[in-house]
Amino acid sequence: MPNSPQRAVSPVAHGSSLAMKAKSNRGVLQPVTVPQPVTERASFLVDRADLPGLRGAVSKLANAGYSETVVTERLGLQDLADLEWRSVPIYRSERLAGRDPLALAIDLFLLQGDLPNDELERLFSRSESDLLVRAGLLAIDEMGLARARASLFPVGDRLIFSDHDWPSLPHPGYTTVPTDQVMGIGRDSRLLARCTSRRTFRSTLDLCTGSGIHALLASAHAQQGLAVDISPRAARCARFNAQASGATNVDVAVGDLFDAARGESFDLITANPPFVPSPLDSLRFRDGGRSGEDVQKRIVAGLPHHLAPGGMAQIVTELGERDDEPLAHRLRDWLEGAPMDIHILRLGEYSAAKYAIGHAKGDDYQAFLDSTRQWADNLRAQGYIRVVSLVISFQWSDLTCGPPWEHLDESPPPRRAAGAEIDAAFLAERFTRRRDLPQALAQSCLRRAGPVALLDARVLGSDMPRRAKATLLRQALTIEHHLDPLEREILDRMEGRIPMPHLIGLFRDLLVDEPTIIAATRSLLRRQLVRIDGQLADSAARL
Ligand SMILES: C[S@@+](CC[C@H](N)C(=O)[O-])C[C@H]1O[C@@H](n2cnc3c(N)ncnc32)[C@H](O)[C@@H]1O
Repeated sequence: MPNSPQRAVSPVAHGSSLAMKAKSNRGVLQPVTVPQPVTERASFLVDRADLPGLRGAVSKLANAGYSETVVTERLGLQDLADLEWRSVPIYRSERLAGRDPLALAIDLFLLQGDLPNDELERLFSRSESDLLVRAGLLAIDEMGLARARASLFPVGDRLIFSDHDWPSLPHPGYTTVPTDQVMGIGRDSRLLARCTSRRTFRSTLDLCTGSGIHALLASAHAQQGLAVDISPRAARCARFNAQASGATNVDVAVGDLFDAARGESFDLITANPPFVPSPLDSLRFRDGGRSGEDVQKRIVAGLPHHLAPGGMAQIVTELGERDDEPLAHRLRDWLEGAPMDIHILRLGEYSAAKYAIGHAKGDDYQAFLDSTRQWADNLRAQGYIRVVSLVISFQWSDLTCGPPWEHLDESPPPRRAAGAEIDAAFLAERFTRRRDLPQALAQSCLRRAGPVALLDARVLGSDMPRRAKATLLRQALTIEHHLDPLEREILDRMEGRIPMPHLIGLFRDLLVDEPTIIAATRSLLRRQLVRIDGQLADSAARL
């Protein structure tokens, strides 16, 4: 679960200055103003002639090991999304003391550090440094210190430029964050990147593209993509990233959500909208109106007009939860009756109080309390008792499998690609909703879907029924499924491949009737703890 409900921008980033506290001679903490050299933001414009050189400089960093896995390991993190500005001095002293090229690249492009001339020369040749200065990515001051004008975020094997995550840190040192700040790669960006279906698609649309991350990732498995952002600066950044990575199949447009799509349909639609229920309208990438839903509900409402048959739409978001109001009802309202299946992946939650505290800002304690109250009042006015972190996936319903459905899974945030597991959840739901499932099962063999951790719980000295939980191991998503006693028994006895008639016989001997056994098997199949082995498996995969 994310350890803070902040978006990519850190607690220092929204208006709170880097004012440090020092003790005056009366022992009272006084704010100390840190000199803040302002490094101009990257223009995200590059001369065509400089593109080959820019790509060369970026691949040099990649060859030095600048990738998500290696950088995460080097910084001693479990997830690069855990990177935080407060720990920068510790990363530097404990992890980057050996100043090899990887350490220098991390310091310059991720930790917003500065490099003296001799270190810069160890990272780039003179002509590469000149090119990065020309491309607006590097500034060298009169003391010869080099600073990045944008950060370079590793996402898998991709490298994505965006504005710095911590604009209030001395480099660049803004006291207020520009409203058109392009979001760095935040925890939510990484969650969507990991949960996106990586099937081969003809066309993709990335709404609220920011740096263009999801459009660029999709460009590797799609013929053509469109990336849209309402902010011209974000669109420039996305275009810059497409150019820098040589992705020629991505178009970038400035526009309000689907306007730029002009009635077209797409096979994959991704979106990481501004979703924060916010009392402020200060950050375009963060603030989703008082309810947090201003932009996202328009995205969901637009899906029926822009999602191609067989396609997939995926949104990462946070939604405020009210008592006794299932989130699925809200999504159905936004879909306005369009027959779509919905997979909701719940990745964490924050109490309203924790959420308010996480977003509150203030240079002194009173200002912080006032800000907390402002955030908490807004959440209360919305009736939100908690805020949940979600990746929501939509597909057109297959009407031969009955009415549209919703499937809720709960997992800690995945640390690696989970898109195939979400694809599989759609297939499993559809397969188990087939009207001819009992007949189909009668000719099938079943087996466990893989190694399963089975947890039995009982209260000794009580006649409370046993509880069982099962988790399919080796998955990116760690989903705990509650099992009823029959489901537990079937799963337990399923050593190897077992023909369904054999399973029915086994449990009939224990006086369980056939429809009950089929219902339990269906439930295990639906939750992908069990799979069909053999011919039928192929037809299930084709569904
Ligand atoms: C949370 S950021 C997501 C950036 C990027 N997709 C990512 O995952 O890192 C949201 C983006 O939505 C853009 N945005 C806000 N309202 C929009 C709208 N009505 N139409 C298109 N883009 C919008 C903002 O400019 C911002 O770049």
